[in-house]
Amino acid sequence: MNRRNPQLNANGELIHLLSTEGLGKDILTQILDTATNFVSVSTRDVKKVPLLRGKSVFNLFFENSTRTRTTFEIAATRLSADVLNLDIARSSTSKGESLLDTIDNLTAMSADIFVMRHSQSGAPYLVAQHVPKHVHVVNAGDGRHAHPTQALLDMYTVRHFKGDVSQLSVAIVGDVLHSRVARSNIHALTTLGCPDVRVVGPRTLVPSDMSSMGVRVCHDLQEGIAGADVVIALRLQNERMSGALLPSSQEYFKSFGLTTERMRWAKPDAIVMHPGPINRGVEIDSEVVDGPQAVILSQVTFGIAVRMAVMAIVASNEG
Ligand code: CP
Repeated sequence: MNRRNPQLNANGELIHLLSTEGLGKDILTQILDTATNFVSVSTRDVKKVPLLRGKSVFNLFFENSTRTRTTFEIAATRLSADVLNLDIARSSTSKGESLLDTIDNLTAMSADIFVMRHSQSGAPYLVAQHVPKHVHVVNAGDGRHAHPTQALLDMYTVRHFKGDVSQLSVAIVGDVLHSRVARSNIHALTTLGCPDVRVVGPRTLVPSDMSSMGVRVCHDLQEGIAGADVVIALRLQNERMSGALLPSSQEYFKSFGLTTERMRWAKPDAIVMHPGPINRGVEIDSEVVDGPQAVILSQVTFGIAVRMAVMAIVASNEG
C-alpha cells in the first residue's frame, strides 16, 4: 500500500477504489477505457468473461441502494465471480458486532473484494487499511464524502454522449452540501481537465469550500446552466438535512427545479444527468426526466461496465 494514498500500491497501481480525489488522469482514463471494453459483454448471448473466476465479491450495504448494489452484483457476476450480498439488517451487526470484526469474519470466508456502502464518511478507508494485502475494497458511497463509481460512470456517460471532457461546460445543480456524488464528480471532472465546472444551488445547500475545489459557484439557476453542455441534477437529500435549510420542496422547485423551459438556458444539445433516486417535481420535472435530453438510464447501464472495470483492475494489482 502507498502510505500517501491508500488506494495505490508502491507501483502507483489501483488496489482499492475509495475516492476519485487523489487519483491521476491516467488511472481515471484506464478505468474508463477498460469499461469501454466491457460494454459489449452486456450485449452478448453469454454475458460473462472469466476474469474473476474463483474470486468472491462481498456486497456490504449498510445503507439502502437500488442502482449501486444491483449493478455491482451484475458486474461481479459478469466477471464470473461468486457474489455474496450480506443482509446487514439480519446480520450480527444488529447484536453489536463491530465493523472490523464483521470484516475479519468475512475475510476468513475467503473474501477477495469488499464492495461497501456506509453512512459514516471514511468507513471504507478504515476497512482498506485493515484488510490483508490480497483483499480489495471498493467504496460504494460513504456518508457525504465520496461515491467514486458513480462519478466514474458519470464520466463515462459524459464521454460517450459529449466526447472529450476537456472541451465541456458542466453544471452540477442542487443539494451539493449533502452530496457525495457532487464531490466525487468535481474531483473527476477537474482531474480529467474539464475547464468549466459550476456548482449551482441555494446558499444553504452549497458548502463554502467549493471555490477552492476549482469550480464556479452560482446561486442563480439561469446563470449556472447558461451555455452548459452537461447538466447534472442532484437529489434533495432530506434524510441528511438537520434543521431548516429550505423553506419547502415547492419553493426549491420554483427556484432550482429543472424544467423543459429552463433547460433552454443550456446548450440546445445539452444532456441531463441524475444519479438517482429522483424526486420528480422537486429537483427535476418529469418532462425532463422522460425527455430527449435525459441520459439517466444510460448512466445506470454504463454503471455495470464501469463497475466491472473497477473490480477487474483492483483484482489484477498486488497490494
Ligand atoms: N446513485 C445511487 O447511488 O443510487 P442508489 O442509492 O440506488 O445505489
